[in-house]
Amino acid sequence: MCGIVGYIGTKDAYPILIKGLHRLEYRGYDSAGVSLINQGGDLVVYKAKGKVSALEQSVSDKDISGTIGIAHTRWATHGEPNATNAHPHYSQSHALSLVHNGIIENYKTLRVELEKNGIQFAGETDTEVLVQLIEYMQVTHQCDTVTAVHLALKNVVGAYAIAVLDKRNPNQLICARKGSPLIIGIGKGNDKAKPGESEFFLGSDATPIIEFTDKVIYLQDEEIAVLNRNGKHAITNLDSIKQTPQMHVLQMNLDELEKGGYPHFMLKEIYEQPNAIRTCMRGRIDPTNKDIILSGIRDNKEHFMRARRIIICACGTSWHSALIGKYFIEEAAHIPVEVEYASEFRYRNPVLDTSDVVIAISQSGETADTLAAIQLAKQHGCFVYGVCNVIGSSIPRNTDSGTYIHVGPEIGVASTKAFTGQLITLILFGLALAKEKNTLDEVLFHQLVDDLMLIPEKMQQTLEKTKGIEQFAKAFTYCKNFIYLGRGYNYPVALEGALKLKEISYIHAEGYPAAEMKHGPIALIDEEMPVVVIATKRGMLYDKIVSNIQEIKSRRGKIISVVTEGDTAVKSMSDYCIEIPDTRDSYAPLLAVIPLQVLSYYIAIAKGRNVDQPRNLAKSVTVE
Ligand code: M6R
Repeated sequence: MCGIVGYIGTKDAYPILIKGLHRLEYRGYDSAGVSLINQGGDLVVYKAKGKVSALEQSVSDKDISGTIGIAHTRWATHGEPNATNAHPHYSQSHALSLVHNGIIENYKTLRVELEKNGIQFAGETDTEVLVQLIEYMQVTHQCDTVTAVHLALKNVVGAYAIAVLDKRNPNQLICARKGSPLIIGIGKGNDKAKPGESEFFLGSDATPIIEFTDKVIYLQDEEIAVLNRNGKHAITNLDSIKQTPQMHVLQMNLDELEKGGYPHFMLKEIYEQPNAIRTCMRGRIDPTNKDIILSGIRDNKEHFMRARRIIICACGTSWHSALIGKYFIEEAAHIPVEVEYASEFRYRNPVLDTSDVVIAISQSGETADTLAAIQLAKQHGCFVYGVCNVIGSSIPRNTDSGTYIHVGPEIGVASTKAFTGQLITLILFGLALAKEKNTLDEVLFHQLVDDLMLIPEKMQQTLEKTKGIEQFAKAFTYCKNFIYLGRGYNYPVALEGALKLKEISYIHAEGYPAAEMKHGPIALIDEEMPVVVIATKRGMLYDKIVSNIQEIKSRRGKIISVVTEGDTAVKSMSDYCIEIPDTRDSYAPLLAVIPLQVLSYYIAIAKGRNVDQPRNLAKSVTVE
């Protein structure tokens, strides 16, 4: 959830580190810090509470020279967000500094032991224990820092991605990971065997690295890397056995990480959806033969053919897409699908067997609970399939097979294009499986494929129809509560709309299946309660939702509706109405969610919220 940046080379480290922190700020942002070995050979640490810009202001009169450094943007887990608890942390002698992502679970025991041995702590974080432990190992074993890092990490229980500076060795940057991602960028000069141009970059994801190089190594669990100024690097495991890393080429470009003229990443990402899902579908639909090509299924046919059920594990927005996926896969491929919160699944004793297929859905590919659910499924011998966005992230590397959603980097904390990308991927999955299992008749299958290909254009039209939302959203800034209702495929859309509003505007919102209103929530309705109803017009549920709206209207609730073009019944009962193009029920969520994303965005803007970095949240939840 926090972000790490590191640099060693010939350039000034500070500007590279700060730029990297800005790019990583979406991961966590309650404090930030930087550590450098400056030209005078001092190991300096500068930290500030708040955003990266606060850190920049605080160093305006400081020595920020030096060609080696580490930096961090924090999302607090242990210890309140303040400058003391911000990273980097010094060791007691101030010879070492360290940044850390993750949680050291046994930090209390370690701290007590270190304190007994005379070590004094400056703050309350689990991270400080790590740097103190490394120094303690150095002193007690009379060893170099790299050996001390090995020794210290062997005593640690928990998850970590760390980077360490040692004042006595300004020519090496040490880093390690377990359970928290860390990526090493290989500088362009390193190939040329010209030590004068060699450099390494470090990032908790690729965003701070991509500007400088596309050649990276994904550090593996329990690996420790030593990056030398001369361009050489050495990677070992905790037992000091040399590892041979695989080099990867990043598949993203800098433009994708910029706002491109939009005031916020969230709005940019909402507007990117038509193109993002075009990319998601590209190469996976054969328009001539009306076929679906998903190598993840094709190459593992035997697992899918013998599966008696599918279990989908995910969190947050990804869990909402899983619910819609369940409806579609069951309908198309006639296989039972269960949807689980990964955080619950991992701590239950689920009944699993080797014929189960488990699908893990995650935008970031780094969500700790989802990763743990995968481990559990693997222990039971299940075949595990990943649906992720971030290429090379931990989930794709820990699953047996899978499909990338390919919607490009999602920076806004509120997930938007990843949701629709996940839906498309799950629909493709359902169709591909249906084809293998022969559960759909050919005419219907072809119609489903044809209708899916029309969705990007219909999304574009939907975006056009959201233009009026900015104006009427202002009327709802006073509200303390919202209710979102939908039925069938649109019920998870109601959940997703409510989550979007909660996370970026801080207005309490709940999503319900519309028919559940009568069983309790209808008591909440009065003239102050806005009710957002997704009432797209196809199938038998439309008439039923019309009745549900009447029940709310007669209790003076305010109706904001999302309806199909040409609708009259719901429109006439609505205070505000957004029309979307007609499509089949199972594809309606792809369009219906867009007005809800836009609505939450403009309500949050009207309330003066920071939509890209809402309070208390982080883009990827890499801790439990
Ligand atoms: O990266 P993941 O998809 O695994 O993340 C899961 C949730 O943390 C995420 O969807 C979260 O709910 C979003 N902020 C919602 O907008």
